[in-house]
Amino acid sequence: MSEVTIEQAAQLIGQNVTIKGWLYNRRSSKKLHFLQIRDGSGYIQAVMFKPEVGDEVFEAAGRIPFESSVILSGEAKADERSPLGYEIGVSELRVVNEARDEYPISKKEHGVDFLMEHRHLWLRSKRQHAILRVRAELVAAIRDYFDSNGFLLVDAPIFTPAACEGTTTLFQTDYFGDKAYLTQSGQLYMEAAAMAHGKVYCFGPTFRAEKSKTRRHLTEFWMVEPEVAFLDLDGDMDLAEDFLCYIVQRVVSKREPELRLLERDLSKLELVRKPFPRISYDQAVALIREQGLEFEDEDDFGAEHETAISKNYDRPVMIHRYPSAVKAFYMKRDPQRPQRALCVDVIAPEGVGEIIGGGQREDELDLLQQRIDEHGLPREAFQWYLDLRRYGGVPHAGFGLGVERTVGWLCGVPHVREVIPFPRLMTRIYP
Ligand code: 4AD
Ligand code: MG
Repeated sequence: MSEVTIEQAAQLIGQNVTIKGWLYNRRSSKKLHFLQIRDGSGYIQAVMFKPEVGDEVFEAAGRIPFESSVILSGEAKADERSPLGYEIGVSELRVVNEARDEYPISKKEHGVDFLMEHRHLWLRSKRQHAILRVRAELVAAIRDYFDSNGFLLVDAPIFTPAACEGTTTLFQTDYFGDKAYLTQSGQLYMEAAAMAHGKVYCFGPTFRAEKSKTRRHLTEFWMVEPEVAFLDLDGDMDLAEDFLCYIVQRVVSKREPELRLLERDLSKLELVRKPFPRISYDQAVALIREQGLEFEDEDDFGAEHETAISKNYDRPVMIHRYPSAVKAFYMKRDPQRPQRALCVDVIAPEGVGEIIGGGQREDELDLLQQRIDEHGLPREAFQWYLDLRRYGGVPHAGFGLGVERTVGWLCGVPHVREVIPFPRLMTRIYP
């Protein structure tokens, strides 16, 4: 008997295998149990025939509640109807731990609140299992892209002395009697790192005290942020486009079974190829108004505006040069038109909205100092940041991609709370 995972057993047809896992589901008749077993690597049907295992084992297999843990052995038999191409003919079954009670999550419909309250158990369900595997592949793809394209991984701190993305979404903590904030973005630190290493990226959790209960806001989310010295806005858009095409196609090719289980329309993702349309903020506003939507001059886009814009395209659209007034202090202004920032947002199709925000950074000392003052940010906290302009400042640019919004898009899951293992929302910090 070789001890294997459900995934590995697919290569061992005709052999006896031992699998350690949990009872996921069960259908029974007088002499047969059809046990659905999961072990983390996959889900498989194990068929138990009473005369082959004896009365005692057969009775136990029919009685134990779902999610009891078991070790079972038997022959891996070819079966075309199984997604893995085989099933197991059980010859032995040992119960490791019989679940105390009926498992709280049944196969019937539960409300999202109930499921979120049981997130620690919900993770075992097929859809949730598939989503986290897609997420892990996306993270691996992101790392591989940057690691193999000359970027150095540089970790940004989590405790920070000041705001990066506006003072309204800061989480404040007590830092030995002083104030510190949980980082909103590693960008400012990546700018320092880019001046040391040229091409860098950070990848970690970021925090926003978002008082919004939308389907795309978490208070703790993961962001990857590349930053490149001697790069302008056009180069930044080229990078975002190349990067997105790579990560999307990689996830589609490696996680097709999971995406199919999630009933994702893969033809939509196949379309994510270069070139992406690039339009200015002003062109985007015209698209919104053409569709009869109200839009205030110089305003930022809301979710419904982003959906209206993306409707016109079958792939992500890059919107550049927003009004500087609605963007962060560090954005470089367009020399042709100072009321516009040299920034870009990438809007994913199918109503997903913004997944990337970035652009060229202000590299002139005086102008940057002025912005810091205008935004009411504490000068002292930004001296180090200004030093980057004092000592050999160069044009530079980068962006941030939100992992959860991207996983949500890839999986076709509308709410970001389902694509992070333990979501942190304005109204949720348990489990
Ligand atoms: O557009 P944002 O705020 O950009 C920055 O933080 C820049 N400093 C990044 C950079 O240039 N290095 O955030 C970037 C992305 C968004 O496009 C979105 O995908 C995600 O981070 N994001 C969130 N995801 C989930 N919940 C939230 N509350 C998010 N806020 C931003
Ligand atoms: Mg943004």
